[in-house]
Amino acid sequence: MDTETTCRNQDITILAIESSCDETAAAVVRNGREVLSNIISSQIDLHTLYGGVVPEIASRKHTERINQVIAEALQTAGMTLREMDAIAVTYGPGLVGALLVGVSAAKAISFASGIPLIGVHHIEGHISANYIEHKELEPPYVCLVVSGGHSHLVQVTDYGEYEIMGRTRDDAAGEAFDKVARAIGLGYPGGPKIDKVAKEGNPDAIKFPRAKVADAVYDFSFSGLKSAVLNYLNSCEMKGIEISQADVAASFQKAVVDVLVEHSMNAVQECGAKKFAIAGGVASNSALRSALEEACNKRGIAFYRPSPVLCTDNAAMIGAAAYYEYRKGVRHGYDLNAVPNLKLGAV
Ligand code: KG4
Ligand code: ZN
Repeated sequence: MDTETTCRNQDITILAIESSCDETAAAVVRNGREVLSNIISSQIDLHTLYGGVVPEIASRKHTERINQVIAEALQTAGMTLREMDAIAVTYGPGLVGALLVGVSAAKAISFASGIPLIGVHHIEGHISANYIEHKELEPPYVCLVVSGGHSHLVQVTDYGEYEIMGRTRDDAAGEAFDKVARAIGLGYPGGPKIDKVAKEGNPDAIKFPRAKVADAVYDFSFSGLKSAVLNYLNSCEMKGIEISQADVAASFQKAVVDVLVEHSMNAVQECGAKKFAIAGGVASNSALRSALEEACNKRGIAFYRPSPVLCTDNAAMIGAAAYYEYRKGVRHGYDLNAVPNLKLGAV
């Protein structure tokens, strides 16, 4: 197929849809790097009432919002559906009922219009968010992906080609942020709240463990740290000591950041990489961003990070990833299904 040659000579505009968790999102992206619109309808307020994402509510809200969000994405871009070269959609990993809403909408639009359909891996989308604001970024590079459901250290060897160097053995980094936030009474979503409160606290006030996984130097384990925070809170309660929310938040955050920075820099060194990127919701954490920036500067490594709004779930990142899949000739049939536990590299 001569897709490569054809695509080089003309603009490729993609309508992208994302509904894997609690944001209903649609975007129009040109040539993988230029965002013409990026509409995000967040359900956070609804789920806050329950202290976390309720899958059934997420699916129902996606169903209510999706058509309007897609229409708004096209309208803001000033384009019509007919001008799209492909319809891209996240098909995994994520909540199955939530994913199905986006996948069904994308299939229906593709079927009715005859515009090709491209299924995108959610994590590949997160990584590709880096291409939007860093026009010069090209593989190979190492990327730390830290979100609510994933913590991965990957070598991006080419567009859409990944080698996983490390992953979490238990909780994802974002999950640890959310659980600790709940334990100290900050509520949902925990990450942004800990980030904010930690600014007022002393990161060295409490010594929390930096877990290592004996047989896999790039793997992460955050459940021990979460238990250490819970034990600390219990022992304070038993002794009648009042805790400082800010100190616990800052000390916990520092323990997570230290491990993420150490493993990332070891991975960069092992691969001899000159470029390092971060992705996923936790990549919007201010302490993590500045610690990694400093660590990269010290080693002469170029550091790439998406703006916070492109770190958390959005459809522009799906459009960016889809462009490189499109160029490779990837097209999906109408049998495309939601795959809640889709593995990276399985696309
Ligand atoms: O990538 P994302 O939006 O959704 C998933 O694919 O999971 O990530 C959401 C996660 C949540 O756990 C949230 O608490 C965390 O990212 N998060 C943060 C921050 N903003 C979002 N964690 C730490 N600091 C933040 N500023
Ligand atoms: Zn995500």
